[in-house]
Amino acid sequence: MPPIRIAPSLLAADFSRLKDEIQKVEAAGADLLHLDVMDGHFVPNLTIGPVVVEWVRKVTRLPLDCHLMILHPEEYVGAFADAGADIVTFHAEAVAQDYALKRKDQGYAMTLVCKQLYDFPRVDRIVNTLRGKGKRVGLAVNPDTDAEVAAELLPKVDMVLAMTVWPGFGGQKFIESVVPKVGRLRAMSPTLDIEVDGGLNADTVKRAAGAGANVIVAGTATFRSDDVNGVIRTLRENAEAASAKK
Ligand code: DX5
Ligand code: ZN
Repeated sequence: MPPIRIAPSLLAADFSRLKDEIQKVEAAGADLLHLDVMDGHFVPNLTIGPVVVEWVRKVTRLPLDCHLMILHPEEYVGAFADAGADIVTFHAEAVAQDYALKRKDQGYAMTLVCKQLYDFPRVDRIVNTLRGKGKRVGLAVNPDTDAEVAAELLPKVDMVLAMTVWPGFGGQKFIESVVPKVGRLRAMSPTLDIEVDGGLNADTVKRAAGAGANVIVAGTATFRSDDVNGVIRTLRENAEAASAKK
């Protein structure tokens, strides 16, 4: 299994002091910086775009892990790569055929359970754009999207992100029922990076890493703590202990 890596999510940072916040988690031993990109369509919230990534790139040496919660990811991955992202993750649900059309009259598209209606030309455009720029590629799956549904796309990517909350907001409760899916993903590939995102803390990280996750995103637990060094150390120790027990 690949090594445990801790990825603080900038969403929970104080955005009036971004540089200090980023350098705080870097000094505390973070391995990656997780950047949440939301478009108000794929998820009911708006966050940052490539211009912010470009400025963040200038103030840290941490690899930038960009999580795109957006429709039409194929139109934007190049801009995030050019802005300095090291790994760019798109959602499987956002490249399911007819995705937006089917959900347009039913509220937010995030409620879709993806049933393998992949639009392969769009997937290939995403992967080729990112590979052409020397970047790593991630595939995210919502809580209700099965591991088996994502399986066909796994050989094309470096990392799979199993959402452990419904995407859109920080500070939500970890969805325990995603843990078996992490186990099935790990069984499919012993070498793939498996990232978990949402509701991770010193306790929930044990179940996620015990099932095989190795990239641990944590927003509230890290940026909202008075002891970020201690939190990152504990997340790592608990994840390593849980993954060693497997
Ligand atoms: C949610 C985002 C997460 C979020 C996690 O849509 O993808 O990265 O920042 O926040 P916490 O760790 O607070 O659950
Ligand atoms: Zn995220």
